[in-house]
Amino acid sequence: MLVNERGTGTSVMGAIEVRGLTRRFGSLTAVDQISFTVEGGCIFGLLGPNGAGKTTTISMLTTLLAPTEGSATVAGHDILHEKDAVRRNIGVVFQEPALDTSLTGRENLDFHAMMYGLTREVRDARIHEVLDLVELTEKAEILVQQYSGGMKRRLEIARGLIQHPQVLFLDEPTLGLDAQTRRRIWDYVKQLNRSKGVTIILTTHYMEEADYLCDRIAIIDAGRIVAMDTPARLKDLLGGDVISLQLNEEGHTFATYLQTLPWVKNVTSMDAHITLTVEMGESRVPEIVKLGQNHGVDVVSVSLRKPSLEDVFLQFTGRTIRDQEGGVMDHRRAIVTRKARR
Ligand SMILES: Nc1ncnc2c1ncn2[C@@H]1O[C@H](COP(=O)(O)OP(=O)(O)OP(=O)(O)O)[C@@H](O)[C@H]1O
Ligand SMILES: [Mg+2]
Repeated sequence: MLVNERGTGTSVMGAIEVRGLTRRFGSLTAVDQISFTVEGGCIFGLLGPNGAGKTTTISMLTTLLAPTEGSATVAGHDILHEKDAVRRNIGVVFQEPALDTSLTGRENLDFHAMMYGLTREVRDARIHEVLDLVELTEKAEILVQQYSGGMKRRLEIARGLIQHPQVLFLDEPTLGLDAQTRRRIWDYVKQLNRSKGVTIILTTHYMEEADYLCDRIAIIDAGRIVAMDTPARLKDLLGGDVISLQLNEEGHTFATYLQTLPWVKNVTSMDAHITLTVEMGESRVPEIVKLGQNHGVDVVSVSLRKPSLEDVFLQFTGRTIRDQEGGVMDHRRAIVTRKARR
């Protein structure tokens, strides 16, 4: 027995071991020497922006794509040499919807269950169970083309569970869903993990999702893992409070000055916006405003908050995930200065 991040006993069944996994497409290295371990019974998140290599990683771990280099075991089976055994022990919810919309919800589930060779009796029992979990029992006989986006996603999660997998892969489980539906899906995922002990590996570019759901997170950017830990410890890495300053003009010089102060931990600046991390932030705000005036810049507005995973991502990559999605700021990196961690 191992003790997982939540301190509860769990068996090693379902554990994932990834060593130096790499995938190149021509000259592009989409996944670059990533290594991580997921203990059985945990929820592990790959958090990163568009094109970071999340889906490519999932495709390799689910045996759909051959790695260029490296190795991995999923539920104790080698992804290169024991593909069938891996496939028997996993469920997958793909990023791209993959339901037959001309069939009912129940028919989609039954079709999938048949592919696993389950008997009629077992299929009926499993379909009943998974529909109940995602609260779609009443919609089971309706054609999927009449489902909402959230209902389709819930049906896909149900489908991924039909064969009682040890490990469930969820690639962007809530992409494009409204906040309320997203919350519901989070609840199913948690419930599934807590009540059935299913190991879950999910990808997301939603910070709150990773924060709320995951026992551990790997932040992935341009194919590499740039940080990996529990959400709480990742946020603690920044230390203190995050202060955001909006200035009346471009503030790189002032940002560089702030970084020299002993009580300032990290500073990032972009145009007229500066973000810095300091301990006991409230007490420092008046001083920072005054220092700005001494440097000829006016602080137009100030906000203070506890660090989020967004701050962690910015600290490690010099970009925000949202910047990348907008596309506009892709080529612009914030100036990040990082002090040596004690
Ligand atoms: N089959 C392929 N052929 C060539 N390039 C590919 C292929 N699949 C992925 N890529 C490239 O590999 C990189 C990683 O893609 P991947 O789909 O893994 O990213 P992702 O993190 O899942 O992004 P998103 O958040 O948009 O889903 C991207 O630059 C992508 O264009
Ligand atoms: Mg993807």
